[in-house]
Amino acid sequence: MEQPKRYLITAALPYANGQKHIGHLAGAYLPADIYVRYLKAQKRDVVFVCGSDEHGTAIPIQATKEGTTARAIIDKYHPLMEQNFKDLGIAFDVYHRTSDPLHHETAQEFFTKLNNNGDLEIKESEQYFDEEANSFLADRYIKGTCPNCSFDSAYGDQCERCGKSLSPDELINPVSTLSGKAPVKKSTKHWYLPLNRHEDFLRKWILEEHANDWRSNVLGQCKSWIDGGLQPRAVTRDLDWGVKVPAADAEGKVLYVWFDAPIGYISATKQWAINTGKDWKPYWEDKDTKLVHFIGKDNIVFHCIIFPVMLKLHGNILPDNVPSNEFMNLEGDKMSTSRNWKLDMQDYITDFINKENGGSQMADVLRYYLTQIAPETKDSEFMWKGFQDANNSELVSIFGNFVNRTFVLMHKLCNGKVPAFHQDIADELDQQTIAEIKNCANKVTALLEEYRFREALFEVINLARTGNQYMQKKEPWIVAKSLAENPDAQQSIDNCLHICLQLTANLAILIQPFLPFTAKKMCHMMKVVEKMLDWENAGSMKLLSVGYSLRAPELLFRKIEDSEIMEQIEKLNAVSLKKESEQSVVSSEAKEITIKPEIVFDDFAKIDLKVGTIVAAEKVEKADKLLKLQVDLGFETRTIVSGIAMHFKPEDIVGKQVTVVVNLAPRKMRGIESNGMILMAEDANGKLHFINPEEAINPGSGVS
Ligand code: MF3
Ligand code: ZN
Repeated sequence: MEQPKRYLITAALPYANGQKHIGHLAGAYLPADIYVRYLKAQKRDVVFVCGSDEHGTAIPIQATKEGTTARAIIDKYHPLMEQNFKDLGIAFDVYHRTSDPLHHETAQEFFTKLNNNGDLEIKESEQYFDEEANSFLADRYIKGTCPNCSFDSAYGDQCERCGKSLSPDELINPVSTLSGKAPVKKSTKHWYLPLNRHEDFLRKWILEEHANDWRSNVLGQCKSWIDGGLQPRAVTRDLDWGVKVPAADAEGKVLYVWFDAPIGYISATKQWAINTGKDWKPYWEDKDTKLVHFIGKDNIVFHCIIFPVMLKLHGNILPDNVPSNEFMNLEGDKMSTSRNWKLDMQDYITDFINKENGGSQMADVLRYYLTQIAPETKDSEFMWKGFQDANNSELVSIFGNFVNRTFVLMHKLCNGKVPAFHQDIADELDQQTIAEIKNCANKVTALLEEYRFREALFEVINLARTGNQYMQKKEPWIVAKSLAENPDAQQSIDNCLHICLQLTANLAILIQPFLPFTAKKMCHMMKVVEKMLDWENAGSMKLLSVGYSLRAPELLFRKIEDSEIMEQIEKLNAVSLKKESEQSVVSSEAKEITIKPEIVFDDFAKIDLKVGTIVAAEKVEKADKLLKLQVDLGFETRTIVSGIAMHFKPEDIVGKQVTVVVNLAPRKMRGIESNGMILMAEDANGKLHFINPEEAINPGSGVS
């Protein structure tokens, strides 16, 4: 196969709306980084781009949640994510952001070209509108029941449970997340990308030309999309957060986030070119460039169907491959941000890397385990016990142990210098081991070329295993005991350690894409420059010259204690919503019981209690604890301010019934008049529960 002249590697731009977890890392960033490190070790011309995806409704929605602005949200998460990636050794050539003016220009130019060429369609249609909020309801501003899996909180663009991509019209019982009300339909104009015009192209390009080199999960999703009939896709939205639509009569409209975000790969490349004084164009226009998108499976259609159509129309090259991973679960359950069942990159960094006994070796441990369980063909499972085992019984006991023994013995038996290799006494086991080093280098190369990172890593560890077995059979420490009677035995010791040292140097080269910090440390121990890690050196037996003196060994990995992983498992259970109910049962007995002084019936009768339905809920600005609720009491809808914001998300309580003290004198809170109070029960853990009828009843029903 002919080699491409240059490579452009992308990793999905993460939304700058919150912490990213290790599922994200394992899905796109880590495999992309491994591939890029391998290509760079091959001295190929490669640019690795990524950046923050800062548009779409996810950002302003997070802003509402955090009681701040969209701008503040992206300015908070963008630098955080950039630093997280650095700490974990993900080495982008540029980490850009879609709020950058360079990106806005680039995306607008792209849209304008397609629009001017007649490649887009403009259509007037009826779309969901929230009359109360006076706003169209794009994507995540509308929720409803998923037609595919019946999940009751599917978004207007996608169901987060089954992953199906949706349009608002497909939702059953749609509700506005702004007001909690059922929306009305209103006419509006939008630009569409007529995918239907490109069916033949897609069929041929994906299902024929790439039938043998794309992963089967990717091909499967593409096929079902194409077979399902391609429809024109709206590429604009009525929204004020995003890239303004550069056309006449497009007031209040922005580009759809999935139109602008992938163009972010191009903007990022331009930024890289500015930073380095290079030309970005060949990377997107020259057919000799190999473009590879690393993504998670929820991004497949955008990268395999929609973006390629855009690229083709715009005159760019198409991706050569789109290695997409399935999902990674955590301790037996799907990772989820809303249920807090996850391990954030930041938390791992805080708990393992930035700790006294941590450091970047712990970044490599995570990289190791995530690669070992990479969900390349099916969903996989992150288990803390598995993480510990991978470290203790592979990195420590096999890899680290081999390197350490080699160094210790070389210092003890060969004066701290690389011993000579005496060809004349080399035996079969020596030859075999030398052959295995070469063989391993070839295998790892072939696997990496095919994006099979799990297997490639397995082969590298296997080489370390081979090294251990070789040393175990040669037993140079035993041979050394006979040196007094038989000085010639030194030659056999020399041969063993010579091979072990060359094998160590090979391990450094082959492990480098996966565990870059470890490879660097090994270079330091071997007193070689990092240039030695060039891939062309893999398989060589001449990496360390005879007579060269090496440093004392350092431990590459440390053992992970049971207590460390127990702590993580406990933390996971403690913060997740999943286990909350179980815990309240355990600790409820502990609470002290207090009873207020006795009252007569007439005292109680003064209180007017009625059942109401929450029809809208929103956060109160600059008040962490308060929610402003609209409660339907049958005869009227009232504003009630309630201190439950730490316990409930506004969008989750709309539709809930509550018991209201309706004759409580009005009170002003944060400038808002509250007309009543909602009854809540507090359990032993401080968790609040609504007091409401078992089954929904008419609002306004009395309680006594
Ligand atoms: N932000 C999207 C996500 O997290 C991915 C965008 S990839 C890009 O799912 F191609 F659009 F940039
Ligand atoms: Zn669904």
